[in-house]
Amino acid sequence: MKSKKHLPLAFYSAILLSAGGFIPYSAVAQTTAVSVSASAEEQMYRPNFHFTPKKGWMNDPNGMFYADGKYHLFYQHFPDGNKWGPMHWGHAVSKDLIQWEELPIAIYPDKDKYIFSGSAVVDINNTSGLGIGNTAPIVAVYTLHDMKKEKENKIDVEQQDIAFSNDNGFTWQKFEEGNPVVKNPGIRDFRDPKVTWDETHKQWIMVLAAQDRSQFYKSKDLKSWQYLSDFGKNIGAHGGVWECPDFFEIKVQGTNETKWVLIQSLNPGGANGGSGTQYFIGDFDGTAFTLDPNFAKRIEQEKAVWIDYGKDNYAGVTWNNIPNSDGRRLFIGWMSNWDYAQDVPTNVWRSSTTIAREIQLIKKGNEFSLVSIPVKEINQYISKTIKGKSLKGKGNLSIPEAAKVDLTKAIIDFKLKNIKQDTYTFMLSNDKGESLTFGINNAAHYLFVDRSKSGKNDFSEKFAATITKASLGGSQKEGAFKIILDKTSIEIFYNNGEKVITEIFFPQQPFTSLSVSSKQTIELNNLVINQLNKN
Ligand code: FRU
Repeated sequence: MKSKKHLPLAFYSAILLSAGGFIPYSAVAQTTAVSVSASAEEQMYRPNFHFTPKKGWMNDPNGMFYADGKYHLFYQHFPDGNKWGPMHWGHAVSKDLIQWEELPIAIYPDKDKYIFSGSAVVDINNTSGLGIGNTAPIVAVYTLHDMKKEKENKIDVEQQDIAFSNDNGFTWQKFEEGNPVVKNPGIRDFRDPKVTWDETHKQWIMVLAAQDRSQFYKSKDLKSWQYLSDFGKNIGAHGGVWECPDFFEIKVQGTNETKWVLIQSLNPGGANGGSGTQYFIGDFDGTAFTLDPNFAKRIEQEKAVWIDYGKDNYAGVTWNNIPNSDGRRLFIGWMSNWDYAQDVPTNVWRSSTTIAREIQLIKKGNEFSLVSIPVKEINQYISKTIKGKSLKGKGNLSIPEAAKVDLTKAIIDFKLKNIKQDTYTFMLSNDKGESLTFGINNAAHYLFVDRSKSGKNDFSEKFAATITKASLGGSQKEGAFKIILDKTSIEIFYNNGEKVITEIFFPQQPFTSLSVSSKQTIELNNLVINQLNKN
C-alpha cells in the first residue's frame, strides 16, 4: 500500500493546511474531476446490492462478527474524502449479509494515529475481563499506524492496539491503559491482526502480516500476547507486501476432518496484477503452521493459489462468532484494487464490498482446496425466475431471456456442455456499443474477463490493460457458471466456486443484452436467470 497511499495523503494534508484544519466534505469531493453529476453517478454506479458507504472512501473490510442476530461489518474508511486518508473504522450491520445499514463511525483516529485494519472477536467467556454484567465484551484488535513516525522514516510505525464494546458492538472504547498489546518488534510493515479462538489448544491466536510473511502470536486474555512463529517467507506469491491475513480451522466438506487455512493478501503481485489474495492449507500444532504436503506441491507448480482470480477482491477476511447451528465460514472482500481504487469514476463514495461468500474446504483425492459460493441469503431477494431454452448452434447466439430482466441486479446460471478445444465468449452489451466479455478458452484452459471495452476506463492505465485469466489446469468437457451482476460488477463462480473471478466496470449505460459466440458448436443448458428486487 505504501507508494499508492502516500500521494493522497500529501494531497489531503495540503488541503488540511489551507482549510485551517477542517476539510468540508464537499470541498474534497470537488477536487476530483468528474464527468457525471452526483445524482447521475448515484443512478449509474451506486451498486444495487453490494455495500458502499454513503459518502467517502472505503477500503478493507475489518472486524466482522455476528452477535445478537446481526452481522457486523467494519471497514477502512475516510468519511471526509474520496481517496485514502486518515483511517477510521466505518460500521454497518445486516440481518442477512445482503441488506446493510450504515451506522456511525465505530473507531476514530487520533491526530496522526490512524486506525488500520484488524479484526474483532466476541469474548464469550470474558477472558479479557473487559466485560460488564452478562453481555460478552467484543474485542477489536487493530493496527495503530503513526503517520508522524512514517514521515520521519521511522521503523516502529505500526503496533497492535485493542478497543472493546460492551453493547454487542455498537459503541467502542479504546483500551487506553493497556495499549499497545503488541509492540513493534522492529518491522516496518507489521499490521492487520486477525484473531481466532484455537479450541484444541484453548488459546487465542493472532495472525498478522509482517512484510513478507505471516506471524503467529498467542494469548489467554487478548491483552498480553506471546510470539509463536512465522510462516511464508519464501512460500507463495511475494510480488509485494503481505497484508490482511486470516487464519481458521475448518471442516472438510461432508466429513469431520479439519484443516487450518491461512488467507494472505498481498499488494502488488496479485493473480492478475495489483492487489490479490492467496491461501494456504495445512495444520497447526498450537505453535506453528505447516503446509499440507500435497498443497505444498501445488504451490510449487502454480506458485500461488488464489481465493479469487479477478482484479477486484482484496483484503477479504471471515466473520467471527457465527453460531455452530449455522456453521458456515463467511467471507467478504473489498471489491477494488490499489492499482486504480482511488481513481475509479465515482466521486461521492469510492468502492464497495464483494458479495458475502461462504468458503468451504473440499477434498478431491488427497488435494484440498477452497471454494467460494455466494451466501444463500441472496436468494431471498429473487423476484422473478426465467428458465431459459437450451441453445445449440455455431457463431454468435443471442440469449434472449437476458433482455427480459434488469441486468444490473441479476443472477445467471448455465452449463456449457461438450466444450471443444476452443474459445467460448459471452458478451454483455449496451446500446452505446460498450461490452464486457467473459468466458472460457478451452484451448489454453483458462477462464477470462475482458473489460477493455466495458465503458469508462481512461481513469487508469492499469484498469483495462490486460485480460484477466484464471487457469483451469486442464481441458474442460463441461462447465457450470454462476454469474452475479450488479451495476458495476461481475462475480463469476465456476463449477460451484472452484474458480472465482470478481471484477468491476463502469459502462455509460447499463448492459441490456447477453450473447455467446464460438467457432465451435455451443451447447448451453440449464439456463436460469434470476431477477433480484434489491436496490
Ligand atoms: C490493505 C491495507 C492494510 C492496511 C490498510 C490501511 O489494503 O494496506 O494493510 O491496514 O489497507 O488502510
